[in-house]
Amino acid sequence: MSVRTDTVLPPGPGDCDLRAMRNDPLRFLSEATATYGDIVRYEAGDETIYLLNRPELARQVLKDNAANYTKDRTPDHIMLRPLLGNGLLTSEGDDWDRQRHMCAPAFRRSQVEKFGSVMTSAAQGLLERWRPAIASGSPVRVDHDLTALTLMVVIESMFGADVAGIGEGFGRAVDAVNSFIGHYLPADGADQADTGVRRARYARAAAFLDQVVRAIVMARRAGGGAGRMDLLAGLLASPADVSDTELRDQVLTIAMAGHETTAKSLTWTLYLLDRHPRVAEQLTSEVDAALGGRLPTAADLPRLPMCRQVIEEALRLYPPVWQISRRAIGADTVGGFDVTPGALVGISPYLLHRHPAYWAEPDAFRPERFAASSAERPSHLYMPFGGGPRICIGQHFAIVEATLVLATLVREVRLEVVPGFVVEPEALVTLRPRNGLLAIPRPR
Ligand code: HEM
Repeated sequence: MSVRTDTVLPPGPGDCDLRAMRNDPLRFLSEATATYGDIVRYEAGDETIYLLNRPELARQVLKDNAANYTKDRTPDHIMLRPLLGNGLLTSEGDDWDRQRHMCAPAFRRSQVEKFGSVMTSAAQGLLERWRPAIASGSPVRVDHDLTALTLMVVIESMFGADVAGIGEGFGRAVDAVNSFIGHYLPADGADQADTGVRRARYARAAAFLDQVVRAIVMARRAGGGAGRMDLLAGLLASPADVSDTELRDQVLTIAMAGHETTAKSLTWTLYLLDRHPRVAEQLTSEVDAALGGRLPTAADLPRLPMCRQVIEEALRLYPPVWQISRRAIGADTVGGFDVTPGALVGISPYLLHRHPAYWAEPDAFRPERFAASSAERPSHLYMPFGGGPRICIGQHFAIVEATLVLATLVREVRLEVVPGFVVEPEALVTLRPRNGLLAIPRPR
């Protein structure tokens, strides 16, 4: 690619150390911005990458000049498209626009709140499964249990299917897929044999998921779930003729995009509450006062502001989607620097959420920051759900689910991280605790 002679390029390390980037991407990004400033340019393999770390720059790429930036051939796209096909997450242009309109009604706040009882029943079910551990003081794998819970919730809410009925195989297949695509950038020295085993498991799991998803679609086409008003019903009622392959891609996309992220945000929330007992106490007081011992419903959400603030603050410190990438179609100018056509542009919610110029005590857990109206923050500073036209379609669903599940759990238990268990972030496809979360559910 020829670069104009008067092109003004941002500073950066030139060729970057791919090993350092892969082994610890959060550190790499933090050091790059600490050294070069909020606009950094570097080369990695054949790619030129711009890292933009100011809210107005994020807004320009994701919203104001979104037409110049595509998801096509970004790392996420390359990794996810073979599995998800051409669903909402991985499509582009008019095709994406049509799909977004078709899916939108099922994600409206009023519609999502109808699934409140699916969410609280799932949380109740989890508490029942934890009963023996509660009685004996044994640890549970909180991250695994929450992943199973959020998977069940999204599938039942959106497609009216009972994953438990399909059998454990579905959860296991999703695990195998997550474990393979989760490591799409193998760390330096990763065991090749291990990668091979995961790849083989992934291929088997992807084929299994394909079959199950097609079975869910066929059952509905054959008249099952009559009277349901969910996403699948909306897709099938669409005046456009939606093919089985398109339905398959959409169902799998929503199932995959709609569970791992919410599970991680709940996992980080419970971890942070264990580290901040005073906040945990205030939270339980709020829940007790609002519910008086009964289960929450969506109608209680306005009475649970602290639950929401705690979740929002956990999403700030540990945004499950820690990096968003786009590819520049044509030239652009950002912050006075030229973006060359074809370059990759990275925006990191993780960095923006801890940017010292915008947040007081950026690394501290202070849920009360979110008591103020979001209008007081610069647009695109806090963006766990992205921004612009491709903002997460499931954001209300995620917040309603996380709030109801959190309120249901803290009514009865507090999670005590096993002493000595190391919790540190690992930036794979989602930002997760490297070793998971092992904690003892203590009765309150
Ligand atoms: C805490 C939970 C969640 C987080 C942090 C999250 C985050 C995000 C982010 C950052 C994006 C934008 C990616 C980009 O611009 O490249 C996105 C897109 C998307 N999310 Fe979520 N998400 C969550 C929950 C959900 C749920 C519950 C669903 C569905 C039930 C969902 C479905 C989707 C879909 C389909 C897209 C693509 C939208 C489009 O391109 O039009 N997400 N999500």
